[in-house]
Amino acid sequence: MEFNLAVIKGDGIGPEVTAEAVKVLNKIGEKYSHTFKFAYVRAGGDAIDNCGECLPKETVQLCKNSDSVILGAVGGPKWDNLPGDQRPEKALLGIRESLGLYANLRPAIIHKALSDACPIKKEIIGDSLDIMVVRELTGGIYFGERGYREGKYGNEAYDTESYSEMEIRRIGKIAFETAMARNKKLASIDKANVLESSRLWRKIITEMSKDYPEVEVTHMYVDNAAMQLVRNPKQFDVIVTSNMFGDILSDEASQITGSIGMLPSASLGENSFGMYEPIHGSAPDIAGKNMANPIATILSMAMMLRYTFNLEEEASAIENAVTKVLDMGYRTPDIVSEGTKEVGTRQMGDLIVEAI
Ligand code: IPM
Ligand code: MG
Repeated sequence: MEFNLAVIKGDGIGPEVTAEAVKVLNKIGEKYSHTFKFAYVRAGGDAIDNCGECLPKETVQLCKNSDSVILGAVGGPKWDNLPGDQRPEKALLGIRESLGLYANLRPAIIHKALSDACPIKKEIIGDSLDIMVVRELTGGIYFGERGYREGKYGNEAYDTESYSEMEIRRIGKIAFETAMARNKKLASIDKANVLESSRLWRKIITEMSKDYPEVEVTHMYVDNAAMQLVRNPKQFDVIVTSNMFGDILSDEASQITGSIGMLPSASLGENSFGMYEPIHGSAPDIAGKNMANPIATILSMAMMLRYTFNLEEEASAIENAVTKVLDMGYRTPDIVSEGTKEVGTRQMGDLIVEAI
């Protein structure tokens, strides 16, 4: 089969990690007789510098016309002082919105070989963890009305959180289906003791649970969930939550694995169309030094093959290769420990290609 992929290398370590992902896909293509064609487009700081705007129309158009999108990372100190609507991060929100990518899947998995990196006591965590955070991605306070106005104490800034029943239902459906395919446990996280939008969220998820009688649903306030994640993370299987709570809790979940450089993500819309990117940011401090861990981006390619192209065997081939290379003791600087072998970004990519 032939697949047309749009690649946004982005900023910082983005170009380095996407280069390794491309290498891995080419190897998969060779082994399983697929052709991956890559079209490179700009977004974020890279687009600000080269096109004068963070998300050029051509980028959106080309992504829309592709079969799937690969993204490295956007942002960096160079662009930090731009106004909010011109920042590289705005490109990320813009692309999520214009491609209709409302569902963000963020797995937090501890690889056995890296279990020592987990900051939680062994007696609590054992040597494994496997949580899937399902974050709503195109609604809530990220996209609500915002601005400045004259308030009770003079000039004030405001942002608004709102959720429609439709938005809650469609992310709920993804969450319930994800739970059905896993351990049938779903924790819905909200702040229903305070927020009206959360009360609607809880009501809709509760209604939907009747259609999924096998799924055990719990509702939890976000403050409690943040605490439970470090107190006893193993109680969670699938978590579903709003855009902002999901942003925060997915970072927390990722840190429990001890290696944010390992975690992939999928942002999905209708018809399995998706954008695939590592959870980590652009890490400007190590950019261009052949130090970045490409595994998160490489594992994002496995998610792409699985969720968008339905190529389970190929997806597993990537995941197994990553496990094998870790078992052989190879580590990038972010995950290196005593007795393991330190390699750079490119060598890590080569080792995974070889293992495939
Ligand atoms: C993420 C990031 C983004 C977000 C930023 C860069 C806009 O933190 O993908 O989690 O908040 O969604
Ligand atoms: Mg985040």
